[in-house]
Amino acid sequence: MDSIVVQGGGELNGQIPIAGAKNACLTLMPATLLSEEPLTLTNAPRLSDIKTMTALLQSLGAEVATMQDGKTLAMSCHSDINTRAEYEIVRKMRASNLVLGPLLAREGHAEVSLPGGCAIGARPMDIHTDGLGLMGAEIELRDGYLHAKAQGGRLKGAVIDFPFASVGATENIMMAATLAKGTTVINNAAREPEIVDLADCLRKMGAQIDGDGTSTITIQGVDRLNGATHPVVTDRIELGTYMLAPAFCGGEVECLGGRLDLVGAFVQKLDMAGIDVTETAKGLKVKRRTDEIKAVDITTEPFPGFPTDLQAQMMALLCTAIGTSVLEEKIFENRFMHAPELIRMGADIEVHGGNATVKGVGKLKGAPVMATDLRASISLILAGLAATGETKVSRVYHLDRGYEHVVRKLSAVGAKIERVSE
Ligand code: UD1
Repeated sequence: MDSIVVQGGGELNGQIPIAGAKNACLTLMPATLLSEEPLTLTNAPRLSDIKTMTALLQSLGAEVATMQDGKTLAMSCHSDINTRAEYEIVRKMRASNLVLGPLLAREGHAEVSLPGGCAIGARPMDIHTDGLGLMGAEIELRDGYLHAKAQGGRLKGAVIDFPFASVGATENIMMAATLAKGTTVINNAAREPEIVDLADCLRKMGAQIDGDGTSTITIQGVDRLNGATHPVVTDRIELGTYMLAPAFCGGEVECLGGRLDLVGAFVQKLDMAGIDVTETAKGLKVKRRTDEIKAVDITTEPFPGFPTDLQAQMMALLCTAIGTSVLEEKIFENRFMHAPELIRMGADIEVHGGNATVKGVGKLKGAPVMATDLRASISLILAGLAATGETKVSRVYHLDRGYEHVVRKLSAVGAKIERVSE
């Protein structure tokens, strides 16, 4: 198993290119199931989660080829397809559940394994299945699989009120509704940029969708969708993560492809912490205003609020601040697993349920630590870059799920970082 070893100290200066969004790509890929014509995605990130989705789609009978640039996915699904998404693949990645809506819309039935829990929480699928139920699907859980069948062979439009603005459920229902009979309205829909990106792609494929980016999305079902070519939106989580690099270490880093509208709530908190962000022709430039980071309180919320996927990285930064910060995690019930690892580096953190109190200690100390999930992994790397001495982060396979070329990107701005095999 590989580890990442970083030596702390030293400013970071230069440019970091930001990849296409993992979470957008993972919902755009299953959209290929909605059409018999080719769907091509450009600006796809090179990540193991994308390989997992590729394997899943191939197991369903889709053709998925990665072009030579590594960033273009050519997909097509013109023949008969298999409607069973097997546990062996689905268990690796929760986003596999995003094939449920498209399969049901295309074939009128589907058997999709439940993904199971993951380290950050139980993550049920009731919002997805209740919505599809209102669209005329009969869904039964048997042998660990959701067996779903559209009454009359085709889903029908419905008005669906989500109890919570679930990202995955919004994506699943939106895709399912594109081929349903009649109009579907999703109230309390998620407003994430990845939803808007999916809607943009589906519109290119001939879908009729309005209101994406707001809490009410309306989808008028059509009989068929065509092919399209679509660039994956910039990864706002990778963007936010690398924007923190100069905040931890000093120096000035320009994140190429960065956009303020993707990270508004995050930038507000950076400003309060004493970090300047400026728009440039190529992206966003980030620099500390002074040597000291100020404490700030953070509450994670659905977009446009502060993203849960940047909470671990921000907590790590606030460990180095002056003063006390309170972080409230409102999306996932168990998302402070990085705290004990940061404590091993000298951080002062107390966790009570969904709240963490972080007393800034100024400087962290290098230590061997263990990555517990994707975002925790990168937060430990950033913390290590600002700490004294050496930090070794083990179990970095989590990192490969969501960050491409971490070592290359951080080395290019001056970080002392290497990947080592045990
Ligand atoms: C997506 C992102 C993930 C991000 C999360 C929240 C992808 C591939 N992943 O995950 O990186 O952290 O949004 O921004 O896009 N819930 C239910 N029932 C459901 C569905 C969700 O109770 O049927 C709960 C979940 O357990 C969780 C919360 O709602 O506590 C948020 O989940 P959701 O917005 O659905 O996140 P994902 O789509 O899984």
